[in-house]
Amino acid sequence: MIEILPIFTNSPLRNYSYLVYSNRTGEAYCIDPFDAKEILNLSQKLGVKIKGILNTHEHGDHTQGNLELKEETKAIVYGHKDAKHKIPGMDQILNEGDIVFTSEEESLTVWDTPGHTFSHLSFVRKNPKSILGIFSGDTLFNVGVGNCFRGGDPNVLYETITSRFESLPDSCLLYPGHDYWDNNLKFAEHIDPENSYRKEYKSTLKPFQISKMEDEKKLNPFFRRNTTSVKDSLIKLNEKFLDDRSVFLTLRKLRDKW
Ligand SMILES: [Fe+2]
Repeated sequence: MIEILPIFTNSPLRNYSYLVYSNRTGEAYCIDPFDAKEILNLSQKLGVKIKGILNTHEHGDHTQGNLELKEETKAIVYGHKDAKHKIPGMDQILNEGDIVFTSEEESLTVWDTPGHTFSHLSFVRKNPKSILGIFSGDTLFNVGVGNCFRGGDPNVLYETITSRFESLPDSCLLYPGHDYWDNNLKFAEHIDPENSYRKEYKSTLKPFQISKMEDEKKLNPFFRRNTTSVKDSLIKLNEKFLDDRSVFLTLRKLRDKW
């Protein structure tokens, strides 16, 4: 099976890097390296060899460890075809459906997930029966979605969230590009005040919790955009919306100003 080590970087950006690896073969891949030294130390402790660096997208906080990690490990750097000249050290393109890595019955497969930027990939851990987890970069966060003001488009993000992320199975684990639990929960309290599940969930929340899609569907205001709790808040704020898409876009706009 594919093992996962989340690596939280104690910077104001609250980035996550991830090591995904096989204990059987010792083969490892690093998603969005931030602190190359820490990642190298951890890979040595695990006894695995980093063969590839996988960038979800081109923003510097997701690629800043690329060159140092590549130099030390001779790993291949992968990214979206349209980010070729923006990702430091990028060697190879990944396209929708590519399989990056397999371990026994499990694989790490590429999804093309534009919106936060136009060259954004997500990585899906799956077995033949189900999707087990998703590395969502800056597309989907705990209790929120990515912003679109550094090269993205909220309309495209809406398409990606609704066509791909909303249909993920309840048991799928979410591995986002940043730990934004605190701020996103505060925004949720503001915009979705009547959500009793959130109160219950918060009482069990641990630092750096990895959530399931089942929880995200019940916590994330962008998934709960058609509830009366969210819609009544928008009406109270004098926000106008016509359809599902415009509720999503209104939430994104309000979160930008939060
Ligand atoms: Fe980003």
